[in-house]
Amino acid sequence: MSIQNQIKALLKERNAVMLAHNYQPPAIQDLADMCGDSLELSIKAAQTDADVIVFCGVHFMAETASILSPGKTVLLPRLDAGCLMADMIEPEALQVKKANLPPMPVITYVNSTAAVKALSTICCTSANVVDVVNSIDAPEVLMTPDRNLAMYAARYTDKQLHLWDGYCPSHEWLKAADVQAARAAHPDAQFIAHPECRPEIIDIADVVASTSGMLRHVAASNRKAFIIGTEVGLLHPLRKQNPDKVFYPASEKMTCKNMKKIGLEDVLKSLESMTPEVKVPEETRVPALNAVQAMVDLALQKK
Ligand code: 13P
Ligand code: SF4
Repeated sequence: MSIQNQIKALLKERNAVMLAHNYQPPAIQDLADMCGDSLELSIKAAQTDADVIVFCGVHFMAETASILSPGKTVLLPRLDAGCLMADMIEPEALQVKKANLPPMPVITYVNSTAAVKALSTICCTSANVVDVVNSIDAPEVLMTPDRNLAMYAARYTDKQLHLWDGYCPSHEWLKAADVQAARAAHPDAQFIAHPECRPEIIDIADVVASTSGMLRHVAASNRKAFIIGTEVGLLHPLRKQNPDKVFYPASEKMTCKNMKKIGLEDVLKSLESMTPEVKVPEETRVPALNAVQAMVDLALQKK
């Protein structure tokens, strides 16, 4: 039996659902029950009636699934698949920052640990950051951990945003000169950027969107060529879903090593052994759930 069929059989036997982020390796995306951006995967994790969630992504994503579904077993086939941005904020440091500011709501990007979410008012993703910021009934807000996402949101709100100095290295790599070179090489292509990119990139982008937002934009567009300003894993679903269109990475350097760790062998082993499990302890999960649920509720209202 092929490894894909072995995994499918075990998924069925365990009443498990396999979720994959849009940056995962092609073989993982091709086998998953659902691929999506962070917001879509959070909603799916909240709504699934499976007993087991095999999360093919990074650690904070599995934690978010555990926060939303404490009764389910959440497996992360590679426990060492972390997120460099999430590692840029510790709960203790956030407490110090909060103590040094006047009282204000804290919006935390889902790309953060459960312990940081537990100290936050509401979460956001790249797909809903502007809606979340504008849903807050306060003139000043602290946004963590992604400074680029906060600077992007600041373009669409009157609120005063206080920043945390975190960023995603895979997106921070991209410089305006890379985009200029890609545009010179492909003058007919439209340039689409992720909100994790630096402000100089947002300034020159034709479109700014989350990973699934990019997939929707390209599917609906009459354009034939696109330069993609996000992690290179997104090129796989873009090419698969749009065989008549061409896609160029804005920079080959936009690679997240952690997003490439999980292979089919890891998924198989994980389903066989039902490890490694990610489980957020109740004392962290309950306060973190307030912040994640507030985001999910807002997203479902807007649908
Ligand atoms: P989205 O898929 O939500 O746009 O997330 C980007 C990201 O960096 C996830 O790690
Ligand atoms: Fe974290 Fe960036 Fe990798 Fe996403 S792409 S998991 S934000 S380091």
